[in-house]
Amino acid sequence: MPALPSYDAISSLLERAPIVPLVGDDDPDRATATARALGDGGLGTVEVVMRSPGALASMKAILAGTEGLVVGAGTVLTLEQAREVVEAGAQFVVSPGLVEDIVRYCQDEGVVCLPGTMTAGEVQRAHAMGLRAVKFFPASLAGGVPMLKAFGAVFSGMRFMPTGGIDAGNLHEYLALPHVLACGGSWLTPKHAVAQGDCAALTKLAREALSIAKDTRGAN
Ligand code: 3PG
Repeated sequence: MPALPSYDAISSLLERAPIVPLVGDDDPDRATATARALGDGGLGTVEVVMRSPGALASMKAILAGTEGLVVGAGTVLTLEQAREVVEAGAQFVVSPGLVEDIVRYCQDEGVVCLPGTMTAGEVQRAHAMGLRAVKFFPASLAGGVPMLKAFGAVFSGMRFMPTGGIDAGNLHEYLALPHVLACGGSWLTPKHAVAQGDCAALTKLAREALSIAKDTRGAN
């Protein structure tokens, strides 16, 4: 099983490629091909969302079948599910909301955890728990870039991973904010391209996102 990356390790990976694509697939071979295609496009992380019965097996297959990718589990809703994904090798854990039991468990296990937040109160609770980064979800509905600017002015040191409503058209607006750690989303894994095993299309989307990141933040 790959070693657990620290927050600093993940954060420096995201400096280079600040994009976290979502992979949601019950077919382990197809999920692995998807993750490889995204890695070929220069991305360094994937988040496998636990939204279907086969998602855990797909995450395990990606962990076993790729090299050089940091593989996390997303849509982790319960402590039990957090245990399950961490035992299966998840290298980071993402939740749609802030559940303190999940955060504490991940902290005890030394697994980077990015719980979802959308209010100042939630960000403050995450901050009080010692977190240095949180997900901001659903970004476009929760106030988007203006809300992130307001959070940035108040929560110095906190970094955000906005997801929800981000695509190649608005990625640069989010990445222009220095306190955005990375942007996550499903736009890099459109259903039709995944279903058709169109790895070239997935690699192209990843390259396009990376090039937007480089144009916005300068080459890393
Ligand atoms: C998430 O779980 O982060 C969101 O569902 C991603 O939203 P998107 O599909 O709009 O990218």
